[in-house]
Amino acid sequence: MSKTETTIVILAAGKGSRMKSNYPKVLHVLGGKTILEHVLNTAKSIKPKKIILVCTNDLKKILSINKNIPVELVVQKQQKGTGDAIIVASKNFSDNENIIVLYGDMPFISDKSIKKLQKSKKKSNLSLLISNLKNPDGYGRILRKNNKVISIIETKCANNKEKLIKEVYSGTFIANGKDLKRWLSKINTNNISQEIYATDIVYWANLEGNIIKTVETLNHKEILGINNQLQLSALEKIIQKERIKNLMIAGVMLKDPSHFNLRGTLKHGKNIEIDTGVILEGNVILGNNIKIGVGSVIKNSFINNNSCIKEYTIIENVKIGKNCIIGPFCHLKNNTILKNETHIGNFVEIKDSIIEKKTKIKHLSYIGNSEIGSKVNIGAGSITCNYDGFKKSKTIIGDNVFVGSNTELIAPIEISKNTTIAAGTTVIKNVDKPCLVYNNKEQKYKKNWINSSKNAKKTPN
Ligand code: UD1
Ligand code: CA
Repeated sequence: MSKTETTIVILAAGKGSRMKSNYPKVLHVLGGKTILEHVLNTAKSIKPKKIILVCTNDLKKILSINKNIPVELVVQKQQKGTGDAIIVASKNFSDNENIIVLYGDMPFISDKSIKKLQKSKKKSNLSLLISNLKNPDGYGRILRKNNKVISIIETKCANNKEKLIKEVYSGTFIANGKDLKRWLSKINTNNISQEIYATDIVYWANLEGNIIKTVETLNHKEILGINNQLQLSALEKIIQKERIKNLMIAGVMLKDPSHFNLRGTLKHGKNIEIDTGVILEGNVILGNNIKIGVGSVIKNSFINNNSCIKEYTIIENVKIGKNCIIGPFCHLKNNTILKNETHIGNFVEIKDSIIEKKTKIKHLSYIGNSEIGSKVNIGAGSITCNYDGFKKSKTIIGDNVFVGSNTELIAPIEISKNTTIAAGTTVIKNVDKPCLVYNNKEQKYKKNWINSSKNAKKTPN
């Protein structure tokens, strides 16, 4: 017998009104990914024939920009309830395949639980993923008669006795396409919210005498949904706790685990020391013997062995070589590459630049669109003037150049190796051979002028 194909339907068209946010609920970020990406990744790992995402028009517009999402987007124009959302999707699935429904706001549902559900389908017409919770409030309760599932009752509609039931519904089920379409055609809005509840398919499936089975999630976390900001932050905490535990077991020293966030992935070597308030985002790779100081943020970057990132440094899309000292208080971004033994200090911003080895830029500089050779010293307050109001231009500085403090380099410009630029110079022309570059400036004097209170101007208010 050939294997029955599977289509996964993800419901993500709810108003998300409890989030009180202008942004679609499923696009809120959890552990560095959108809530929807968590569910989509799980769905993809099941290797279904296709994935149908039920969304709003707004969500469709945002998702359509990202062509990497391999899903069919169907729009539910009016949010009439979860049952209606599946009805909208049902136009895109066929009778003889299995349909698995996932809710877009439940990011922890695991592939293992879904596979268990798929197995259970072989012996049933409808299998429901359920959990047993100490506090079942807010969830649909599983109603049984003589131990057989007969229906699901939403919290809003449940009486006091039903509210005591701890067996709750996750929103995830599996059924054959033809059966599902038939049950969906029977559900109505006879409930307190006057919504078309997906859960009502259970009632009709039972009435027809179908076999209904339940499968329990592997852990209680899987059933956690995100309906408001409080739940979003509670789930973030769970993710962070797990990641922090894994990092520490792998030998990373976190000086203050409760104030560290990994909002992506970290690959690391040995002897990593991370101080309080550090955030790592996207894909971060750290070599051996790396120190990261208080309050630093590192995004999609690679830091090689024996480098030290001092306090309050922001690094985005940057490659840092070995034995570098970076910070405190500096901002490196946009594909900047720092070779071995570079020193970058306080209040320095570098973007789109390559800095060769042993170069020092230690105070108050802006370096943009530049190629800076090795053993260059950029004095305090020196900047590349890379933008003329229309376009960005390049600054190229050869090896061993000494740039005096407070120098302005008007790009495009190229400075020969071994050149010395005097402090306070505005460099406007290329320097082809090693020399001393300076501007003719005169120091003037006003004779017999003394800064006494007599002739000092009044300080303006
Ligand atoms: C739902 C279940 C409940 C279950 C709980 C698990 C129903 C009626 N109830 O309740 O039994 O215990 O999930 O978390 O299904 N959505 C649409 N279109 C709509 C309405 C909702 O696409 O018209 C989507 C939402 O975006 C969301 C999902 O369906 O991703 C669930 O909707 P939500 O309103 O959050 O249902 P719950 O009240 O959590
Ligand atoms: Ca929900």
